[in-house]
Amino acid sequence: MTVGIERLAAYVPPWVLPIEALADARGVAREKARAGLGVEAMAVTPPCEDVVTLAANAGARLLRAAAVSPDDIGMLLVATETAVDHAKPVAILVHGLLGIRAQCRVFELKHACYAGTAALMTAADWVRAGAARRRRALVIAADVARYPLRSPGELTQGAGAVAMLVGNDAAVLQLGAETGLHAADVWDFWRPLGHREALVDGKYSVDCYLAALDGAFGAYRPREWPELGPGEAFTDRVAHLLFHAPFPKMAMKAHRRLATLDWQAARERWAAVAPRLDDAIAEAYAAQVAPGLEAVARIGNAYTASLYLCLAGLLEREGRRLGGRRLGLFSYGSGSCAEFFTGTVPGRASEATDGGLGRLLAARTEIDVPAYERAFASADAGGDPPAGFQGDFVFTGVRAERREYARVAR
Ligand code: CAA
Repeated sequence: MTVGIERLAAYVPPWVLPIEALADARGVAREKARAGLGVEAMAVTPPCEDVVTLAANAGARLLRAAAVSPDDIGMLLVATETAVDHAKPVAILVHGLLGIRAQCRVFELKHACYAGTAALMTAADWVRAGAARRRRALVIAADVARYPLRSPGELTQGAGAVAMLVGNDAAVLQLGAETGLHAADVWDFWRPLGHREALVDGKYSVDCYLAALDGAFGAYRPREWPELGPGEAFTDRVAHLLFHAPFPKMAMKAHRRLATLDWQAARERWAAVAPRLDDAIAEAYAAQVAPGLEAVARIGNAYTASLYLCLAGLLEREGRRLGGRRLGLFSYGSGSCAEFFTGTVPGRASEATDGGLGRLLAARTEIDVPAYERAFASADAGGDPPAGFQGDFVFTGVRAERREYARVAR
């Protein structure tokens, strides 16, 4: 039985801030943002949008695209590190907005940016165990990345959501049976109760990410099946590698590390590439990694959704060409937990691989720095949808300490 993603749909907020504008306003060299971090633009949420609307809007788009009734959902998992309440999960608000039936297991998952993968794996195991009883799991990863204004992390903010239907008719990505894990208690990025913005030990977080990659890929490689020959590189068996991308340059660093580890483990391959390592890594990066980063370079960090926005962007760009090919995916969540896993795009991959991301990105409205700063300051205000709003739901504000939402009238 194959288990995996039957269909996926992305959602990004309607506003975008070009990174040059923010760099200029902060006195940062444009080249540092563009080349140093690899960022082109940042998705910005208007006051009418929060993590609940991001998640619900992605979920509504998915159910519509897949022509799946809310009655067919037996498990609803929302992964986020932008939780809006310490007890009431984002997932139950999304459950109400989407009109999903009462006979459904509903919960929110948190482990920084890793929670989307934790949710996907939990849902896949539920399907494998036979507990789904012909129903599907709806997994949604959604986040709004916020750092203090004028901090180094500010240039890496973003927002977005990806909804995935998980079942055993995996028309988008059939998950491999083996994964590699690595967990370690580290203080690289966290958000204490009461803080709206994350705290981060930036340079250390990059080191933690790479150490977790060593651990997770190191755990995965010997589990690859059929077993790798002594001179065989794992990376030759996959068409593309996707990485959690807090900023695209992080994925470039991660790929360098992974390719080096993989080639060093394949003695003959290492002998061939070692004398021209920089060129070999650059060629592999251009072919296997860069295509998956185009969309996130225009969105910024979307924490739990980042890896899955990379997947949505890649499949939209190359899905039909990837039929029958494998992908390698690396998920990292600060704190930390990481997982390396693989998936196969089925031979019949077709319109199911269109997550609608390109159309949403093309429809965004460009804003300037004062408008971004106003939106940053009024994140909990709620409001009316701006012109051209593509979502189904808006956040209308907080009344009597309760968050309120409404369906957009069309
Ligand atoms: N032209 C071209 N490049 C330039 C430049 C210029 N004028 N000036 C600087 N650069 C380059 C630097 O050389 C550097 O590149 P390398 O890393 O390849 O050396 C890059 O731009 C970044 O510059 P700095 O080293 O000066 O770093 P910074 O002070 O701007 O901080 C950061 C970078 C630590 C990533 C910061 O943006 C940050 O704290 N971000 C949030 C944390 C984060 O994203 N961590 C990633 C791992 S943790 C994770 O993945 C979980 C998560 O989602 C948060």
